[in-house]
Parts: sequence; C-alpha cells; structure tokens
Amino acid sequence: MVSDFRRWYFYIACNFLVGMKNGFDFISSSYDRAAKIFFGNDIKKAQCHYITNIPEGATILILGGGTGWILNEIFNRRSSVNIIYVDTSERMIAKAKKTVDNKWLSQLIFINDTYQSVDSKVHFDIIFTPFFLDMFKENDISVIINDLSIQLTENGAWINTDFTNTTIWYQKIVVKMMYIFFRVVCGISAMKLPNFEKIFKQNGFLFYRSAFFHNGMIKSIIYKKR
Ligand SMILES: C[S@@+](CC[C@H](N)C(=O)[O-])C[C@H]1O[C@@H](n2cnc3c(N)ncnc32)[C@H](O)[C@@H]1O
Repeated sequence: MVSDFRRWYFYIACNFLVGMKNGFDFISSSYDRAAKIFFGNDIKKAQCHYITNIPEGATILILGGGTGWILNEIFNRRSSVNIIYVDTSERMIAKAKKTVDNKWLSQLIFINDTYQSVDSKVHFDIIFTPFFLDMFKENDISVIINDLSIQLTENGAWINTDFTNTTIWYQKIVVKMMYIFFRVVCGISAMKLPNFEKIFKQNGFLFYRSAFFHNGMIKSIIYKKR
C-alpha cells in the first residue's frame, strides 16, 4: 500500500507538471485494493445487490466495469446472460479479461472504448452503471442516459450503483477528497456528486427500488422506463 501511495504521488506530480493523463490505466492495479481499504466490502456488496433481479438470458450492458470481478459475480448467479463490457481504460479491460473465468468468454464482448462504440442495433434488458455516472457533469449524464434509453427494452431496467449525497459531515469530506483525487489522477470532468434521481426522471425513467450501503453513502437504484 505504501508503494501504491508513492506511485500515486509521483503520478499526481507528473499530472501537474506535464499534463500527463491516461484515465484509470495508472490506478488499475491498485483500484480494488484501495476501494477495499476505504469502503470495506461495501463497494462490492452494493454492486452485487440487484444481481438476483437480473432475469436469466438477459442481455446486459456494463459501463465502466473496471477490473472485471463483477463479471464472475453475475455469471455465477445468472449463467445464461450475455454481457457487453465497456471501459475506456486499456489496463482495466486487460485485467477484466484475466479475471473473468474462461468458461464465460463466449457470452461476453469487451469494448475498450466509450458506449458510443456499442452496436446501436443491440437491445439490452439491463444497463448497469457501477460507480460510472458520478464521473460526469449532469448535462453529460443526461446525454448518456438519453442516448442509451433507446437501446433498453420496454421492460428493461437500468441499475445505477453510486455514491450519494448525505448530510453527514465526514462523508461530505470523503466525497470531496475523492473528487479531487479522481480529477487530478484520472482527469474526470465532474467536480461534485450529481443528483442522479432528478436526471433519470428528466430522461423518462421511474424509480423502481433502492438499497443503501456504507451508512447511506452508497446507493443502488433500479430504474425502469416510464
Ligand atoms: C470509478 S471506476 C469504477 C470501476 C468499477 N465499476 C468499480 O466500481 O470497481 C470508473 C471506470 O470507468 C471507466 N471509464 C471512465 N470513463 C469512461 C467512459 N467514458 N466510458 C467507459 N468507461 C469509462 C474507467 O476506466 C474505470 O474503470
């Protein structure tokens, strides 16, 4: 962990000095470890919470999936689903390819790019955004939701797992620190947590159900099309 911090410190310094930015590539090897140190198992618990709501045979789009541990979690519970896994970080995708059990590869497509590279003819039963939308400004989130809602089937569901605004002072500080860190190290555009519920509602989605984790700091929500 000490060496992780040293590497991050070096990277942050480089970012300031020469504007070097390559998104999440640099932190891919320590991402899951750091998440566990700061949030215990809650980052994983929150993302896994609604897997049992995914119907067998579903076609799933995962945006910003990261290192890929979520793939085995989904396939082990829902063995007949097909997944399109999108992440702009080359190293995250490489890690995900190594992490996923080989037996699931025929049901899986990796896209090392943005969602704009997803075949527009494919329709999804589930769109899953785990700690993804919080990286964008509200207008950009609106565009993403609006673009992809066309590809969500009529009875489909959008599962969003993310941090949420609370009134607890130390959680506000943690969120602020995270935004500073991810902005400097990964070059994310957002500077504060968006109001996800408002944006989903504005884009034609209805709240279906939700669950809180980590003393209310993390929320998993299922939205359905109106
Ligand atoms: C905060 S991490 C979350 C990773 C994972 N979902 C988790 O919770 O462990 C965000 C992920 O989104 C990816 N990402 C960033 N911008 C993206 C974009 N425009 N399209 C797709 N993936 C993106 C990053 O490479 C990173 O893996």
